[in-house]
Amino acid sequence: MRIGILGSGLMGAKLGTLFARAGHDVTFSYARSEDKLKALARKAKASYGTPREAVRNADAVLLAVHWLRFDDVLAQAGDLSGKIVITCSMPMNEDNTGLVVAHSSSGAEELAKKIPAARVVAAFGTVPSEVFFSVYAARRKAKRPSLLYCGDDRKARNVAVKLIRDAGFDPVDGGPLRIARYAEPFTMLIAQLAYEGKGGPQLAYRFERYRK
Ligand SMILES: NC(=O)c1ccc[n+]([C@@H]2O[C@H](COP(=O)([O-])OP(=O)(O)OC[C@H]3O[C@@H](n4cnc5c(N)ncnc54)[C@H](OP(=O)(O)O)[C@@H]3O)[C@@H](O)[C@H]2O)c1
Repeated sequence: MRIGILGSGLMGAKLGTLFARAGHDVTFSYARSEDKLKALARKAKASYGTPREAVRNADAVLLAVHWLRFDDVLAQAGDLSGKIVITCSMPMNEDNTGLVVAHSSSGAEELAKKIPAARVVAAFGTVPSEVFFSVYAARRKAKRPSLLYCGDDRKARNVAVKLIRDAGFDPVDGGPLRIARYAEPFTMLIAQLAYEGKGGPQLAYRFERYRK
C-alpha cells in the first residue's frame, strides 16, 4: 500500500516507520524541517515530500498533527476526495491539557466534516507513541494488545484493520465514526496512566471477551 504521512512527529514518524518495515511504500510529510523529513525517510527506507505529494498517489493517509494544525495541513494536502484518511489525532487544546471537543462530537467527526468526500477512520490514537516499537517487536506473540478503530466507510475500516495488524495489534471494531466521541476521552485515561502512572508510557491495553 502507498501511505502518505501528514505530520511526522512522535506518532507519524513511528507509525510511518513501522508501516515501511511492514512493507508499505511510505511518504513522510509535514514537519518544520525538510532535513528532519529527509533523515526520517532515509532511516525508514521511505520517501518524503510535501503534504500534496504525500497524498497524491496514496492508498491511505495518516493524519498525525495537533488539532490546531488541522486546517493548515489539510489546505497543504489539497483534494482528499475518495481518499482513506486514518486519523490518530486528538482534539487537544493548545497546551495539551484537555479536549476541546468531547461527548457530543469528536476530533475524528469534526475532521470528517472538514473533508466530507474523504473516507475517515479513527485508529492508532488510543495508545501512546512510546509503545509502538515494543508492540511491533512482540507481534509474533500469541496475545497481542488491542487497538480500537471506528469509522463509517467499509473500505477505510478494512485498510485500518490491515495496518493495525501490520503494526502488531489486534484490531477491535468500535463501530461507526461517532464512537470516536467515547474513544477520545478513553485516550485521556490511557494518557493519564501512561504519563502519570507508575509504569511509564510504554502502555497498551487488551480487551478480553469471556464466553460460557
Ligand atoms: N504522542 C502521542 O503519544 C499521541 C498519542 C495519541 C494521539 N496523539 C495525537 O496525534 C497527533 C500527533 O501527535 P504527535 O505527538 O505526533 O505530535 P508532534 O510530535 O507534535 O507531531 C506533529 C507534527 O506536525 C508538525 N508540525 C507542527 N507544526 C507545524 C507547522 N507549522 N508546519 C509544518 N509542520 C508542523 C510537527 O513538526 P516537527 O516534526 O518539526 O515538530 C510534527 O512533525 C495529535 O493530534 C495528538 O493529540 C498523540
